[in-house]
Amino acid sequence: MSNVKLSEQLETRVIRKEDFVADKTAFIDANTPGSDKKENYCIIGPGVSENENRVINLEEPHGFNVGAAAMPNGCVNSLHLHQTAEVFIVAKGTWRFIWGNEGKDGEAILTDGDVISLPTHIFRGFKNIGSDDGFLFSILGEDDPKKVTWGPQVLREAADYGLVLLEDGRLIDSTIGMSVPEGAKVIKPMSDEELAQIRKITQEEMNARVFRLKDRVPYSGAYLDEKLPNCKKKSYGIIGPGMADNPTREPLVSNEHSFSLELIEAEPQQGFASYKQEKTQVLLAYKGKWKVSLGEPGNEEDVILTERDLISVPVGMWRSITNIGEETGLLYIINGGDEKVNLEWSHKVINSSK
Ligand SMILES: [Fe+2]
Repeated sequence: MSNVKLSEQLETRVIRKEDFVADKTAFIDANTPGSDKKENYCIIGPGVSENENRVINLEEPHGFNVGAAAMPNGCVNSLHLHQTAEVFIVAKGTWRFIWGNEGKDGEAILTDGDVISLPTHIFRGFKNIGSDDGFLFSILGEDDPKKVTWGPQVLREAADYGLVLLEDGRLIDSTIGMSVPEGAKVIKPMSDEELAQIRKITQEEMNARVFRLKDRVPYSGAYLDEKLPNCKKKSYGIIGPGMADNPTREPLVSNEHSFSLELIEAEPQQGFASYKQEKTQVLLAYKGKWKVSLGEPGNEEDVILTERDLISVPVGMWRSITNIGEETGLLYIINGGDEKVNLEWSHKVINSSK
């Protein structure tokens, strides 16, 4: 990478795709045919991996977790539910999401750049139905997204292949010589009574929670800096109030997730003037090449992000963001919290907007 050497404070906060560490033994279905080729990544925060020895790129609490899954064509992520929000950003491939206790309440097919927000406490699963390897980023709500609850059929099938899950979250794989420790309890499948209490999400309800990149409706003028040179951009509010200065930019999904998500689209040499904020912020380069300049104006450090690289910007630090590629760039921005994020702009920006 062409970056000058970053200070230690920033070095740990820039997570490049080459830094992601694949884990093939993260979950109960790791031995089950059809699901055994799934790779799980913990990028920011502990996520929900059931592997005690997983590698987490950045452990600092952000109010949300960022992870990823890489799955070859035909690979399935089994039915499970979460206590917190779960959002997927498709980085590559064609994916079929299903939901409901039997996975039969509906389906959503997503492709590159699309986003889906799955409601809490319903069963969901997904499959790479594309012709090639697929890659998804995931965002889970809260600092501690709790444990995954697996569908009863998933637990039974896993046991047939030597894997059981303990109540304390540990995964025991008898195929590699592990055994259930004395006194430990194996998780029991959800009862029919418990299953009957789970709400149903209709196809229409889920459709309203899918952001389709090709159908995006651009919003201009969301930010105070847009009258300045090199600050032209379009933005898309996907989840939560986000950081738009203009409150008329409505998000697609507005229930609380513990984070906001938006997409920024900018032509070459365009982006954001310098701003700072008091909430956690993660920038995820989806398309193109982005320069993020961090620190007091005149004394900045530059970070270059290419596709699938991320940075967690230190809270309260000045930052400016520019598409330095040769094509239209797309940048996903995750902000911590459910409240609108207030941006602090320089005098130059404030004066330009009057
Ligand atoms: Fe999940």
